[in-house]
Amino acid sequence: MSKKLFIETLGCAMNVRDSEHMIAELNASEGYELTTDAREADLIMINTCSVREKPVHKLFSELGVFNRLKKEGAKIGVCGCTASHLGKEIIKKAPFVNFVLGARNVSKIADIVHKDKAVEIDIDYDESQFAFKDFRSSGHKAYINISIGCDKQCTFCIVPKTRGDEISIPSDLIVSEAAKAAENGVKEIFLLGQNVNNYGRRFSGEHEKVNFTELLRRVSVVEGVERIRFTSPHPLHMDDEFIEEFAKNPKICKSMHMPLQSGSTEILKAMKRGYTKEWFLNRVEKLRSMVPDVSISTDIIVAFPGESDEDFEHTMDVVRKVRFEQVFSFKYSPRPLTEAEAFTNVVDSEVGSERLSTLQAYHDSILDDLKVVNLGKIVEVYFEELRSDGYVAGRSDNNIMIKAKGSEEWLGKIANVKITEVSRMVQYGEILA
Ligand code: 5AD
Ligand code: SF4
Repeated sequence: MSKKLFIETLGCAMNVRDSEHMIAELNASEGYELTTDAREADLIMINTCSVREKPVHKLFSELGVFNRLKKEGAKIGVCGCTASHLGKEIIKKAPFVNFVLGARNVSKIADIVHKDKAVEIDIDYDESQFAFKDFRSSGHKAYINISIGCDKQCTFCIVPKTRGDEISIPSDLIVSEAAKAAENGVKEIFLLGQNVNNYGRRFSGEHEKVNFTELLRRVSVVEGVERIRFTSPHPLHMDDEFIEEFAKNPKICKSMHMPLQSGSTEILKAMKRGYTKEWFLNRVEKLRSMVPDVSISTDIIVAFPGESDEDFEHTMDVVRKVRFEQVFSFKYSPRPLTEAEAFTNVVDSEVGSERLSTLQAYHDSILDDLKVVNLGKIVEVYFEELRSDGYVAGRSDNNIMIKAKGSEEWLGKIANVKITEVSRMVQYGEILA
């Protein structure tokens, strides 16, 4: 009988891809098969996120639950960003954990699984994303890492400390991964990195210098690739060449993530983001003028140390002007190993909660307006999922989640859909033959 692996993946798309890599390695070397029932697993892993404090707290209570329900002899491993940052502390606090594997060390999974109380969290290790066995959780969409780590020094962010220095993966490897996925019927390529449009700044050896715009061009001419998405770009590196390629390349989906973080130039400075409110608005203007249908999403942190009412008002001003299609908003959470952790001008927690509510309520009203605009539109949808309620679901080119009555014959197909019913998060439509 094959061994069973249960894996829970938290955090971002990079973690989803890291989990896929670990599943592939464990399958190839040990014959592990996935299970969705932790009770029957021989190995239980949590691939963790450390970007905010809450999920870190949750980790230890979850580990306790897994320890109680696991079958006899089953192992427990903690991977990902919290593994990188807490290291052996995890085994101290939860001694039943068998191994701790950092976000940059996932290629060592087949080794560490045989060790006990082992900790591998070296952030200088740079091979982890390069050569893996193949596993993809979706047959329709392929995540491909284009870089590992992050060179930025945003003062709120723990990621450079958990994923290490930024290294670009050679472009020929990326293109050949895209080609392999397309040969297997995948139509959508999702390029991943902490800072994708900084691609090409540093490779680990002698490789052709290719920037992100050129990489997009090369992936878009791979036979069988019909759609390209990517995350996350940095507003600072959104130069004209990049925006122009985004606009004119029909394979690139017209949805852009532009993490604002704050609308106040003063706070952006304290965050070390490298751009001003005006630069951000200028880039949005350029983007919207070239791609009128583009949907723009963002990340915003409220109550960063020193954020005054006036600073917050600048954030609201940007939200009013840009009218983002999607906002991921967070109350600032001080993180260890970051510069901002030492900032003393903290904002009162209640004020932070109020600001978050104000922002979210305002954004809900934007969504209510936007959904009405979508009614009756015809959009191209790539169907990826069969739902149990008789619907197939997928995303439009500009990233609207659309559900339509249909069966599995639509999976993996791109079809025109007329939007007939709208809500804030999901829209319903009719497939046009
Ligand atoms: N506190 C709150 N939000 C944070 N993020 C990153 N670090 C923190 C923090 N310390 C948010 C940012 C980032 C997203 C992934 O998480 O908005 O873009
Ligand atoms: Fe979380 Fe950031 Fe690590 Fe992704 S890279 S798992 S968002 S801490």
